[in-house]
Amino acid sequence: MGALDGRVALITGGARGQGRAHAVALAAEGADIVAVDAPGPMTDLTYPLGTVDDLHETARLVEKLGRRCLPIAADVRDSSQVAAAVEQAAAELGSLDIAVANAGIVSTGPLDQVSDRVWQQLLDTNLTGVFHTLRAVIPVMRRQRFGRIVVTSSMGGRMGIPDLAAYNATKWGIIGLAKSAALEVAKEGITINVICPTTTQTPMVQPAGGDDVPDELVRRMMRANPIPQPWLQPEDVSRGVVYLVTDPGVITGSVLEVGLGGSARIH
Ligand SMILES: NC(=O)c1ccc[n+]([C@@H]2O[C@H](COP(=O)([O-])OP(=O)(O)OC[C@H]3O[C@@H](n4cnc5c(N)ncnc54)[C@H](O)[C@@H]3O)[C@@H](O)[C@H]2O)c1
Repeated sequence: MGALDGRVALITGGARGQGRAHAVALAAEGADIVAVDAPGPMTDLTYPLGTVDDLHETARLVEKLGRRCLPIAADVRDSSQVAAAVEQAAAELGSLDIAVANAGIVSTGPLDQVSDRVWQQLLDTNLTGVFHTLRAVIPVMRRQRFGRIVVTSSMGGRMGIPDLAAYNATKWGIIGLAKSAALEVAKEGITINVICPTTTQTPMVQPAGGDDVPDELVRRMMRANPIPQPWLQPEDVSRGVVYLVTDPGVITGSVLEVGLGGSARIH
């Protein structure tokens, strides 16, 4: 018997990386999964995004554990696509108990070289995308008088980091969003918490795979972490997500840093 038997969990950015690891970890605890990903094209990203094939691979891994998985191609920048995905999830799987707002993109570089389009794209995905997800799932959870929501920020949402100002602005922003929304729904059986990973070995920071470290920014961030290991594995973050969504309902508005000791350097 798993801690999440009978629960349905929707994960944005569920096609690969951390989102896929969360899908597998929650399914291993008994949850059925809705994986949302495969967004439309983006400008000037240095790495490819998740695809429909990636979504189907997540579904295969979940089904191997004996759980159901509904893969949905949708872009969190589009509120109507997010609303439709939530509606389809609740209709086909019977409820929607857990949401992990994990979809995100990164762009790096000095702030004075961030274009209007890249700035807007970061905001639309990392901040507005989380807003769309929360706004769509809260009414369903409110009707059930139960919900567990986790928002994926970053250790970049806890500190300043040169060459990540625009990204970090979105990751600080969703912490304010999550904490405020947590207060709005606290009496209704719904918790909203934030998870802040440090550098994690996924295609976002290591587009080509393998063990090589891709660029100087990532190397600099790794050197700043007190615990001397290169980066997190996605499963390290998933353990935090499982903890937050299996909580009986006494932790909300909290921020869990999975930071290789970086938490020791902030306030
Ligand atoms: N990898 C890291 O070092 C790191 C560190 C801290 C926080 N994060 C955050 O963790 C989350 C997961 O990232 P990851 O490391 O697994 O990277 P990843 O690029 O492997 O996964 C992100 C997934 O989100 C999807 N996505 C992006 N924009 C989307 C959109 N508009 N609509 C729907 N799906 C979209 C992508 O297609 C991709 O499959 C992100 O929010 C990221 O910012 C990553």
